[in-house]
Amino acid sequence: MAAKTLVVACILVLGMCVVRNSQADPTHAFCRIVWLLGVPCDQVNMAIVTQIKAMGSYKLGPVTPTVIQANHTSAVGQIESVNFTMTATSMSLGCHVDGSSVSAFWFSLFDNGTNYCNLRNIMQGSGLTKAPGFVEFTNEWLCLGVGLSACK
Ligand SMILES: *[C@@H]1O[C@H](CO)[C@@H](O)[C@H](O)[C@H]1NC(C)=O
Ligand SMILES: *[C@@H]1O[C@H](CO)[C@@H](O)[C@H](O)[C@H]1NC(C)=O
Ligand SMILES: *[C@@H]1O[C@H](CO)[C@@H](O)[C@H](O)[C@H]1NC(C)=O
Repeated sequence: MAAKTLVVACILVLGMCVVRNSQADPTHAFCRIVWLLGVPCDQVNMAIVTQIKAMGSYKLGPVTPTVIQANHTSAVGQIESVNFTMTATSMSLGCHVDGSSVSAFWFSLFDNGTNYCNLRNIMQGSGLTKAPGFVEFTNEWLCLGVGLSACK
């Protein structure tokens, strides 16, 4: 990703560059990603829900127009909680999506990017990564193991 794009994303997400998700329990592996898309949030919501339903390793939880909750069971039997929170951007055609994934158990602290892939695979599978204006922002502070991950 171009440095310029990162700077813009940082400004748009208002300080999230340095602030870790305060709700995340630091003893559990977690990942937080912010995406910006030039697509209305209702379409983003529909695409994510459709994709989660299509993937056997995810169990869809409560869905509202702004929050999608699900659980993911990985190959080794770990469970991760996955949330997507959508906010319309000031340019009303766009959507700001805040994705988070947290492992249920302490022993998955070094998760090789499992939590990153939980989020990334949904966005990729739904085709949203190809949407106009798509930008992904995260780093090692927000997303454990992002540098190690090789999502399948
Ligand atoms: C996700 O897992 C948690 C913890 O096991 C459970 O309390 C919750 O009901 C699950 N949610 C769904 C949608 O399965
Ligand atoms: C998802 O949201 C639920 C309800 O607010 C919360 O209990 C859970 O910890 C959240 N999970 C993540 C990964 O942020
Ligand atoms: C992470 O990757 C290493 C090396 O491939 C492997 O030994 C380890 O079991 C993996 N850990 C998890 C939690 O998948």
